[in-house]
Amino acid sequence: MVRNIAIESLLVCLLHYFIFFSVHLRYSSAQKTSIPLGQSLKLNETLVSPGNVFALGFFTPNGSSFVYLGIWYAALPGRTVVWVANRANPIQANDSGALLTLSLDGTLAVVDGNTSRLWYANSSSSTSPGNDTTAALSDDGRLAVSGNQVTYWDSFGDPSDTFLPAMGFITNTTSGKSVQWTSWASVSDPSPGRFSLGLTRYSPTNPIQLYLLNGSALLWRTGPLSGRIFSGLPNMSIFSIYGFNPSQNGDEFTLGLNSGSSRLNRFVVDPAGVVKQSNWSETAGAWVDLWKQPGGPCDRYNWCGSFGLCDPLNATDVCGCLPGFEARSGTGRDGCVRRTQFGCGTNGSGFRSLPSVKPPDQGTVFANLSSQAACQAACLGNCSCTAYIYTSGTGCIMWFGDLLDILQFSGETDGLELFLKLAPSEIAGAHGRKYVKIYVPSILGAVILVACIFCLWRQKGRLNELWKRNGVGSSMVSYMGTLDHVAESGRRVEENGEGLPLLDLASVRAATNGFSLANKLGEGGFGPVYRGKLSGGQEIAVKRLSRNSGQGAQEFMNEARLIAKLQHRNLVKLVGCCVEEDEKILVYEYMPNKSLDAFLFDEALGRELDWERRYTIVLGIARGLLYLHQDSRLRVVHRDLKASNILLDAAMNPKISDFGIARIFGGDQTQEINTIRVVGTYGYMSPEYAMEGRFSIKSDVFSFGVLVLEIVSGKRMTRFHHPDLSLNLLGYAWKLWNEGRAQELLDPSLTASSVISSDQVVRWIHVGLLCVQDDETDRPTMSTVVVMLGSEASNLPPPSMPAYSSRRRRTAGEANSTSTDGSGIDQSVNLVTITAMEAR
Ligand SMILES: *[C@@H]1O[C@H](CO)[C@@H](O)[C@H](O)[C@H]1NC(C)=O
Ligand SMILES: *[C@@H]1O[C@H](CO)[C@@H](O)[C@H](O)[C@H]1NC(C)=O
Ligand SMILES: *[C@@H]1O[C@H](CO)[C@@H](O)[C@H](O)[C@H]1NC(C)=O
Ligand SMILES: *[C@@H]1O[C@H](CO)[C@@H](O)[C@H](O)[C@H]1NC(C)=O
Ligand SMILES: *[C@@H]1O[C@H](CO)[C@@H](O)[C@H](O)[C@H]1NC(C)=O
Ligand SMILES: *[C@@H]1O[C@H](CO)[C@@H](O)[C@H](O)[C@H]1NC(C)=O
Ligand SMILES: *[C@@H]1O[C@H](CO)[C@@H](O)[C@H](O)[C@H]1NC(C)=O
Ligand SMILES: *[C@@H]1O[C@H](CO)[C@@H](O)[C@H](O)[C@H]1NC(C)=O
Ligand SMILES: *[C@@H]1O[C@H](CO)[C@@H](O)[C@H](O)[C@H]1NC(C)=O
Ligand SMILES: *[C@@H]1O[C@H](CO)[C@@H](O)[C@H](O)[C@H]1NC(C)=O
Ligand SMILES: *[C@@H]1O[C@H](CO)[C@@H](O)[C@H](O)[C@H]1NC(C)=O
Ligand SMILES: *[C@@H]1O[C@H](CO)[C@@H](O)[C@H](O)[C@H]1NC(C)=O
Repeated sequence: MVRNIAIESLLVCLLHYFIFFSVHLRYSSAQKTSIPLGQSLKLNETLVSPGNVFALGFFTPNGSSFVYLGIWYAALPGRTVVWVANRANPIQANDSGALLTLSLDGTLAVVDGNTSRLWYANSSSSTSPGNDTTAALSDDGRLAVSGNQVTYWDSFGDPSDTFLPAMGFITNTTSGKSVQWTSWASVSDPSPGRFSLGLTRYSPTNPIQLYLLNGSALLWRTGPLSGRIFSGLPNMSIFSIYGFNPSQNGDEFTLGLNSGSSRLNRFVVDPAGVVKQSNWSETAGAWVDLWKQPGGPCDRYNWCGSFGLCDPLNATDVCGCLPGFEARSGTGRDGCVRRTQFGCGTNGSGFRSLPSVKPPDQGTVFANLSSQAACQAACLGNCSCTAYIYTSGTGCIMWFGDLLDILQFSGETDGLELFLKLAPSEIAGAHGRKYVKIYVPSILGAVILVACIFCLWRQKGRLNELWKRNGVGSSMVSYMGTLDHVAESGRRVEENGEGLPLLDLASVRAATNGFSLANKLGEGGFGPVYRGKLSGGQEIAVKRLSRNSGQGAQEFMNEARLIAKLQHRNLVKLVGCCVEEDEKILVYEYMPNKSLDAFLFDEALGRELDWERRYTIVLGIARGLLYLHQDSRLRVVHRDLKASNILLDAAMNPKISDFGIARIFGGDQTQEINTIRVVGTYGYMSPEYAMEGRFSIKSDVFSFGVLVLEIVSGKRMTRFHHPDLSLNLLGYAWKLWNEGRAQELLDPSLTASSVISSDQVVRWIHVGLLCVQDDETDRPTMSTVVVMLGSEASNLPPPSMPAYSSRRRRTAGEANSTSTDGSGIDQSVNLVTITAMEAR
């Protein structure tokens, strides 16, 4: 008996000795890069990603006595765990036999010393795994079981408490089930806690937003996605250049971060129920929180009750009521009730604007209403509609019934503008905050009449002027002929195979998933644009011209011909084209940041365009245009330069795009061409072009001037709204300039930044005003403009009064208002490209 014990202890001793040695022998090679089928990862081993960004292994949280399998940042000090496998079933501290195994049937499992499964990964694929199947960790933090190009399981579909940049918030629109990010129970206990974040209530008619739940109770929400940023999360925009991007694949809806986000960036739901975004700071050697939510009581879901308005800055009581509502009881937390009921029908109610609020919960998205006027009319026409929002980022959202969870932001550009439906008496009695004016139709009529008369008067002046110039005009007609001839010979060269690579339709189809809706980026003037990826991995934007547009065919050859010959870093690059079957397709390099207007005129995104970025953009556009006008082999007038035709690459460099109506011209650069077809965008068109059809490089200079003023002010030329209705953006800039207050034109979201040189701002406005002068001979050429923008000297010539400095038509600001019979709704938001016939 005694001997038995002695032998046993000797064996145990030997065993320990063996284990000790094997541990040490293996220590240097304890890092694996993959786990093949049938093999495993032991307690002391780690699996690292190829770039050593992430590591997978067993760990014991601070203050815990259990062991878990998790993923952390391999290269960062401290162990920041981003994913835990066996959250609910920990490994006992004394269990030295636990493993992560990839069994022969392809199941990844954490097993204890008795080989019973503590956790396992369910394969989503029905095919049985091949011999090449492995479990591996990627540099974006994804643990996946895959082989033979099939992914059997992926940890991103079963996240813990951390959202990594490569992940997506996912929901199944058929079942309504969404993937949830769940907090740890406590800082030392990874088991699932009370708080979870996800696209909890998303459906195609619900706005895209994330909800934070406490158990099953709503605790906080992000507010609808507006552009790429959540409207209830103003601080996010300051840090997120890239933002979120929704996509739909079958019944799976995914909200992912746009590529380009830093890898060392994460969103965490912490055990106290706080969601935060953190970024690794190299200088501090620690994670820095960019924002945290919920913060104050106003962030708590529906803190003030139905129709309440929570104002965190109100020292008396954060809970108040929406205008036109009164507290149901003494304090606001019970919610509020309407003071004056309104009648049904279009004449019984109107709208009051509430700027800078977190939009209410439970709105309905109307994707088919694509203008503010249409959205407003629909809300007015529906008796149970209580409010609406329209922005380019959210589209039309309407609310029916109670308005819940509204927060008043203090920053002018934070949140969104809500239009609240009220009885006319409540609108008339509005005081304090901004409200929507109601114009009496007769005043409106008078304004339109005056505008028309002015318009005709100007037109007449222009025609007279043209008459006088007609001696020169006749030679221009023959010049036009030569031009078309030049264009023809250009095409012949093209067809001889020089320049433009031809792609076959099948590969373009494959690259865009058969032109799937999910890949669609938008709709251009002549057809839809898709995002795609060539088999080589190159990201592309595919412009597919509408089949039956005869006009499109001409534009197509023009654009293909032109761009193939133009190579400049500030012009969008043509990858190839495709003419097959009935298809006419242009393939461009893909620009991840879309177009300038999406940033410049968006409340939230505008702030990401700091002065330095705007500087790069203005200079880049100027250089691109200079190249078009005089530095390229051809001389080109773009004719449709505007913010939406400036695309931004990943580093926010501007690229001029859309050469659909550009024209080649030859010889003298001050040469003018007359055309009967005036095509372009109202507001950016120079007066001589809009009225007489005359265009030259100076027409582009005019558009550039408008663009500069838009970039400085952050305001749209076509929707500029000034209390003095007689002024448009150019007129307003001119007024401020003459009063020596030019720097007041600066975008308010820029004024907080200290890096702005006010000399530079004033010089830009000066250059902008020089470019939009009425007489084209007074406008500088692009080469002069480039010098002016870059120079420090202030010896620029004084500008004269710009063209169009007073408005001749109603503005979108007025389109905001509602007249009592509904006739004040202006459907014609002038952002569309117009074609007008002009008699010569
Ligand atoms: C664990 O706790 C120690 C001491 O409290 C601390 O120094 C260390 O940073 C903690 N580690 C982690 C990963 O939190
Ligand atoms: C490990 O410890 C637990 C309790 O702490 C005990 O129940 C279990 O038997 C132990 N297992 C081994 C293998 O020692
Ligand atoms: C293995 O199973 C035995 C009996 O069920 C149990 O006592 C022991 O604690 C288990 N060991 C581990 C490591 O779980
Ligand atoms: C795997 O699927 C089974 C049944 O379908 C489920 O009970 C189990 O929780 C799943 N396991 C994991 C790790 O998802
Ligand atoms: C979504 O849910 C439906 C119904 O539960 C299911 O049939 C479908 O397979 C799910 N889709 C995905 C992509 O999981
Ligand atoms: C979550 O809900 C529980 C139970 O209702 C409550 O006690 C707790 O205070 C809530 N936590 C937060 C952060 O709201
Ligand atoms: C995080 O920091 C890196 C560099 O420190 C920076 O490039 C990146 O833009 C930051 N990300 C966010 C979202 O702020
Ligand atoms: C947002 O930013 C402002 C100013 O930078 C700061 O005062 C505020 O606390 C931040 N809010 C949150 C929720 O992080
Ligand atoms: C603060 O709230 C009280 C009560 O709702 C309200 O009467 C008051 O006008 C508010 N103050 C401000 C500055 O909004
Ligand atoms: C306008 O309102 C009045 C009562 O307020 C109602 O009698 C009338 O029918 C309404 N007119 C229209 C066109 O809705
Ligand atoms: C818009 O779509 C809704 C349903 O989604 C429909 O009821 C409504 O009639 C449509 N409106 C228009 C103007 O097409
Ligand atoms: C509506 O009017 C407000 C000013 O009253 C203006 O700031 C806003 O841009 C207008 N909205 C649209 C879509 O024109």
